[in-house]
Amino acid sequence: MNNYPHEYELSLQQPEKFWLQQAKQLHWFAEPQQGLRPNENGTADWFVDGELNIAFCALDFHVDNGRGDQLALIYDSPVTATKSTYTYRQLRDEVAQFAGLLKKQHVKKGDRVVIYMPMIPQAAIAMLACARLGAVHSVVFGGFAPHELAVRIDDATPKVVITASCGVEVDKVIPYKPYVDEALELAAAPPQHVIVWQREICEARLQEPRDIDWQQALAGVTPAECAVMQATDPLYVLYTSGTTGKPKGVVRDTGGYAVALRYSMRTVYGIEPGQVMFVASDVGWVVGHSYIVYGPLLSGATTVLYEGKPVRTPDAGAFWRICEEYGVQVLFSAPTAFRAIKKEDPQATLLQQHSLDKLERIYMAGERLDPPTLEWTQEVTGKPVYDHWWQTESGWPMCANPVGIAEYPTKPGSATLPVPGYDIRILAPDGTELEANQQGAVAVKLPLPPGCLTTIWGDETRFQAGYLREFSGFYSSGDGGYKDDDGYVFIMGRTDDVINVAGHRFSTGEMEEILAMDPAVAECAVIGVADELKGQVPLGLVIVKDGVTIAPEVLSQRLVQRVRDEIGAVACLRQVHVVPRLPKTRSGKILRRLLRQLADGDSQVAIPSTIDDPGCVDELRQRLSD
Ligand code: COA
Ligand code: AMP
Repeated sequence: MNNYPHEYELSLQQPEKFWLQQAKQLHWFAEPQQGLRPNENGTADWFVDGELNIAFCALDFHVDNGRGDQLALIYDSPVTATKSTYTYRQLRDEVAQFAGLLKKQHVKKGDRVVIYMPMIPQAAIAMLACARLGAVHSVVFGGFAPHELAVRIDDATPKVVITASCGVEVDKVIPYKPYVDEALELAAAPPQHVIVWQREICEARLQEPRDIDWQQALAGVTPAECAVMQATDPLYVLYTSGTTGKPKGVVRDTGGYAVALRYSMRTVYGIEPGQVMFVASDVGWVVGHSYIVYGPLLSGATTVLYEGKPVRTPDAGAFWRICEEYGVQVLFSAPTAFRAIKKEDPQATLLQQHSLDKLERIYMAGERLDPPTLEWTQEVTGKPVYDHWWQTESGWPMCANPVGIAEYPTKPGSATLPVPGYDIRILAPDGTELEANQQGAVAVKLPLPPGCLTTIWGDETRFQAGYLREFSGFYSSGDGGYKDDDGYVFIMGRTDDVINVAGHRFSTGEMEEILAMDPAVAECAVIGVADELKGQVPLGLVIVKDGVTIAPEVLSQRLVQRVRDEIGAVACLRQVHVVPRLPKTRSGKILRRLLRQLADGDSQVAIPSTIDDPGCVDELRQRLSD
């Protein structure tokens, strides 16, 4: 079987025909007759005359078609010693009832709802309830600090915030509600209500009448019906890091996203209805939106929602236990997770205690999959391991091994081939296309396929400036890479100031803004440096103002704490060096690439001819190697 060349060509040559065909896999209230409507900026709207409700497709449709008693969601929480399951019928009913509660709070089609939740089923229920009503959800990762939450609240202006009393990190209970309270104090336009799911492990204090107890308020609520949505109506806004302190609200439509996810479940993941998918990520990231919540449910599969870590909850056998216990067919997580398992259990002795008979494939994304991790995972599990490349902006894989339609050998370091729908080109800075094996900017020829971002929330100018202007007629991914002679795509890393820490995306520009706010700091730079476990971690370098006498260690600690307080511990800025000088060009631009090379201990550092003060290089090399 190799349908890939045909399907890929068709998707590019006749995109309307191709995607209208794929759209038939879903239940529409009004089936689209029009595939794509071009926009002036080169992008396109998909299925403009289609009407659907994605929560209906994900739940009600399956209940109405014989899957009511099949498991839709399995919740496994080693951190609270809890396991529970939801059939499609149970999940549909809980979603409808919670949607009824939102409706009672006057949440309606088009309103925004911010969801700040740990990995508990109520996070998925809240998302699906918004979708049921046609409200636009914006999930904020629970590891973000109040300031980050406040920034997102101000941008999305939600009618309601939904949260839980706490999250649990390994053995630490993290009360979420005080963070929400603080965020609402910081926010310029806080919403009127906060709905709180009380967890037994830590009950939150509620401020009535603003705060509403989820469990208590549900009593007597009438379940809400599914709203009829245009395919182009926004389903959600998901904030991601850009190059500045202000996160970008990636807007996702409803119909295009549903079609793309449904297609990818078969083509990329090879998942059939009734199979089990375990995606170890978080609903706060795009991976969680697409493949913990919407993708598996749209496909009639079972999703595992895991509240735990790959290690320490309780040990490095956690993933293998889950695969065995629930008969998982597809496991997907970030390479970091597998590096953590490998570090704790290099011989994979814990794996021997579990049967992986049902497991068919392992997927990794979120950061570059280094060949040693790929090889180790393949060797110890005996399963095929697939790297695949995508972003918050794309919403679903752009490069992958299309296992559902073809069999291609994997190549270490490569995310394999462009997925049907994505016309991926490698471009030189002047926009000309580069030949095989030449490294350049990874871009996608417009129009993008269904499912990709449609704009930046409230900021179309930023959307165009950030993604569409660099190369006319192309979407710029922000990643660099190349294609080899066989067309395999190799993603080599970001070309901007975005870094990837344990598969999580952060802006070094934002961290610099936070460091620069400290009264002792005259100048600073934050760079991503290689880290054995997390892929990259941020490193801060600061120059203090004249006359500042604070001890460097004390300042360093203060700055680390500032970033924890403003962004969250998850940013992992653990080191800030106080240095006398930073390498700059004669025009005053900090040479961050050079800094990265020095911090990574690169012995082949080429000192740019534009450098203003070559003497600082040795000084920094010395400082960074201490
Ligand atoms: N809520 C609150 N705090 C959180 C959090 C959350 N949801 N997630 C992380 N944090 C905190 C942690 O408690 C930790 O705090 P600390 O510095 O006080 O100890 C900090 O953020 C860093 O957490 P983490 O990145 O999870 O590092 P770790 O050292 O605890 O664990 C790994 C290392 C590799 C096990 C972990 O990073 C991991 O599981 N990575 C996989 C990531 C992933 O799935 N990415 C999804 C993309 S597909
Ligand atoms: P996010 O938007 O948080 O999903 O992060 C997207 C970024 O992560 C991409 O732009 C890449 O830089 C990186 N990334 C994701 N998947 C891969 C991969 N398979 N290989 C290399 N980099 C990846």
